Amino acid sequence: MVDEFQNCFIFILLCFFTVFCYSVLFCRKTKLEVDFPPSPPSLPVIGHLHLLLSAVSHKAFQNISSKYGPLLYLRLFSFPIVLASSASVAYELFRTHDVNVSSRMPPITIESLIFGSSGFASAPFGDYAKFMKKLLATRLFRTQAIENLRGVRAEELERFYLNLYDKAAKKESVEIGEETMKFTNNMICRMCMGRSCSVENGGIERVRELIIKCFAMSKKLFLANTCLTWLEKLGISPFKKEIMDVSHGFDELLERILVEHEERPEQDQDMDMMDLLLEASREENAEYKITRKQIKSLFVEIFMAGIDTAAQATQWTMAEIINNPKILERLRGEIDLVVGKARLIQETDIPNLPYLQAVVKEGLRLHPPGPFLVRRFQESCKIKEFYVPGQTTLLVNVYAIMRDPDLWEDPDEFKPERFLSSRSSEQEEEIKGQAFKYIPFGAGRRGCPAGNLGPIFVRIAVGMMVQCFDWRINGHGEISMEEVIAGISLTMAHPLKCTPVSRLSSFSL
Ligand code: HEM
Repeated sequence: MVDEFQNCFIFILLCFFTVFCYSVLFCRKTKLEVDFPPSPPSLPVIGHLHLLLSAVSHKAFQNISSKYGPLLYLRLFSFPIVLASSASVAYELFRTHDVNVSSRMPPITIESLIFGSSGFASAPFGDYAKFMKKLLATRLFRTQAIENLRGVRAEELERFYLNLYDKAAKKESVEIGEETMKFTNNMICRMCMGRSCSVENGGIERVRELIIKCFAMSKKLFLANTCLTWLEKLGISPFKKEIMDVSHGFDELLERILVEHEERPEQDQDMDMMDLLLEASREENAEYKITRKQIKSLFVEIFMAGIDTAAQATQWTMAEIINNPKILERLRGEIDLVVGKARLIQETDIPNLPYLQAVVKEGLRLHPPGPFLVRRFQESCKIKEFYVPGQTTLLVNVYAIMRDPDLWEDPDEFKPERFLSSRSSEQEEEIKGQAFKYIPFGAGRRGCPAGNLGPIFVRIAVGMMVQCFDWRINGHGEISMEEVIAGISLTMAHPLKCTPVSRLSSFSL
């Protein structure tokens, strides 16, 4: 009996020993193979949601990364997210894994022109996205194409100026963000669709109305596309009707404009972006045949991506300038010296206005209109030796990277001079792994295709407002720089409202 008990005891011990050895030899290896990025303490069911409730999302994510590290694995309910918050992690993502992270979230509704499957921005990085990307770079946003449309931008800058001049004469206050959005909306519509879409025929106003509706929906749509995907799987589309109403609005407008473009005789001069796209779509040996729906979706995406971003960047930069009288004085001095007081600033002045360029660059660093890059890992991979499963969502916190105290001196201060003095060359930054410390236009293959056009909008708008007007703040004290994410952009919680005071007599335009 005692022997039997002893044998049994030894047998159990042997079993434990075997399991222990197995786990040391084999399981340890398996664990190493699936070593996820570090993860802060989470709660059952909600995961890391509680960490995000205390502040606006980009700041909450910034707080988490400064406490737990620049590469984190988070979970919102069952939805996994990899959060990247340093230039060095961004370097590895966009230098080594760019193709793998060049897709975004899948489309929400198949049929819609907005966030639908015909869209380019949400298309996976396959033949269609590659073709469109090339088309944008070599046709629509090519330097020459942008220069050909300089006249349109000059006319819209004059319209913007006259509108402010009129307000100044009546001593009326203006919301800078709202007025700038009209300006960027007019400019982009006219650059895309030429005469077919004008202020006079109401087309431009219609685009603005529809874009405002899109932004009002976008937070709900982000939620639907992330946390509520299970509803879609059950066949329930909570926002489908709202999306389709706006989509039909765009479809009606763009179809009319497409027909007008197709019917009008070809003119080499005066080609707008729709002409260029139609021309490319008709080419016999094109690598990819784009459909009519894809053309319409692209324009909707250009409106969504371009109108508000440039307007927000202008509003933030003006707020910083008004809050910093010395910067205003230096900038105005530069413009007065180069442009003078007898004519309106124009795009061709910009190369001679380095301080204006630095001011706009600094505005975009502190207040990137797109504080996050949202991507998705197509395949599982290793980032900084950590395992990331395929289909995980990637959030790159652009806001945190551009305020990283390890890379920027006085990171939270508006100091345009930092871009004037002894800048390290691109090559030096590449060597130091800092090539991605300034990324307001995103990075890699899916970076903004209008990285050359966007700053032009902001520079001419800011230049004109500084050259022509003094700005009286409504109320007292400093402008509040409190932030909020509205639509898809980082915007001012308290929109900038000022009264323009003309400092120059009206130009004969
Ligand atoms: C100051 C102005 C602008 C800023 C700060 C800005 C910023 C951005 C950012 C951060 C992205 C995402 C990039 C990424 O995922 O890496 C993006 C994408 C995009 N932007 Fe811009 N943008 C601006 C102006 C414009 C303008 C004026 C247009 C068009 C007229 C435009 C068209 C686009 C398009 C089509 C995409 C999607 C690209 C793709 O999916 O491959 N953007 N932009």
